[in-house]
Amino acid sequence: MEEITNVMEYEEIARQKLPKMVYDYYASGAEDQWTLKENRNAFSRILFRPRILVDVSNIDMTTTVLGFKISMPIMIAPTAMQKMAHPDGENATARAASAADTIMTLSSWATSSVEEVASTGPGIRFFQLYVYKDRNVVAQLVRRAERAGFKAIALTVDTPRLGRREADIKNRFVHEPLPRWIQTLLTTCVLSTEPPQTSDSGLASYVAGQVDRTLSWKDVKWLQTITSLPILVKGVLTAEDAKLAVQNGAAGIIVSNHGARQLDYVPATITALEEVVKAAQGRVPVFLDGGVRRGTDVFKALALGASGVFIGRPVLFSLAADGEAGVRKVLQMLRDELELTMALSGCTSLKEITRSHIATDWDPPRSLPSSKL
Ligand code: GLV
Repeated sequence: MEEITNVMEYEEIARQKLPKMVYDYYASGAEDQWTLKENRNAFSRILFRPRILVDVSNIDMTTTVLGFKISMPIMIAPTAMQKMAHPDGENATARAASAADTIMTLSSWATSSVEEVASTGPGIRFFQLYVYKDRNVVAQLVRRAERAGFKAIALTVDTPRLGRREADIKNRFVHEPLPRWIQTLLTTCVLSTEPPQTSDSGLASYVAGQVDRTLSWKDVKWLQTITSLPILVKGVLTAEDAKLAVQNGAAGIIVSNHGARQLDYVPATITALEEVVKAAQGRVPVFLDGGVRRGTDVFKALALGASGVFIGRPVLFSLAADGEAGVRKVLQMLRDELELTMALSGCTSLKEITRSHIATDWDPPRSLPSSKL
């Protein structure tokens, strides 16, 4: 394989390697895919205000998330069905995350069980949860995640119904005959072995059909009665919901538009981040996922108040291209890029990254210092 020099290059390799149906499922966003493009474009409109002549010979990127020390503010977002990308699936991702000393979030729609992922070795792991209509299933899943040593629940709150991904509809996204890991997925998630319907976007919408559409804030409270794990509310895009998340006992907020796969024409997460951070008033940490492909993106998110970021598609595409080695390389490239960005901006630790290190198009015009002629 030719030398990979950035995270984006894995996407084309994955596109060539994967069955079209699988690549499309991972890559696509909802409807017009405006938000999908905007998740990237919005980063490109934020510019740096670097500080010079700072001793940057030592750079510390370590941070603490929910009390867990990790080597960098870059973590792994939950993405579904990783064995479609590579036979090692979530197990490879878990090993790569541990090797990088960072956190992996396992999807509820994983093709490896919580126990299997735990057996890959030590590591700090979060479990992404969909709340299904059958609350016994949810309680069982949470209990299994706890027993397998998972440290937090990332509750996805933006999917009462699945967004409309047109490529999946065209492809009738499903595998036939059902491979064994899909059986694992179905039994892990919904304790059912019924074959998925193929009338719309197939497999994903079948599983999403088990999600409880009545889910509301009171269920966030209910979740706290069945687990003592901290709950991150994943899918917040407004100040109003950030306040409600804090009031309802969230331990943290993930600003996410579900990789632009749910409601199209919501803002890029990097655009929504600052209002959420302000509304959270420092009472809980705020994280971001969506469109992070460069160390510069990570720096921009931190400058806008994020405590860390999660990456999704880069993991899937690198996993498809090169298994565990690919995911390790993605994490290494982002780490190196963030370190370089910090050095070139004059920051030696994450707390030195401030709002004034960036300029956004929603900033008020800067008043220039008056010059004496
Ligand atoms: C799963 O969460 C998906 O977006 O398909």
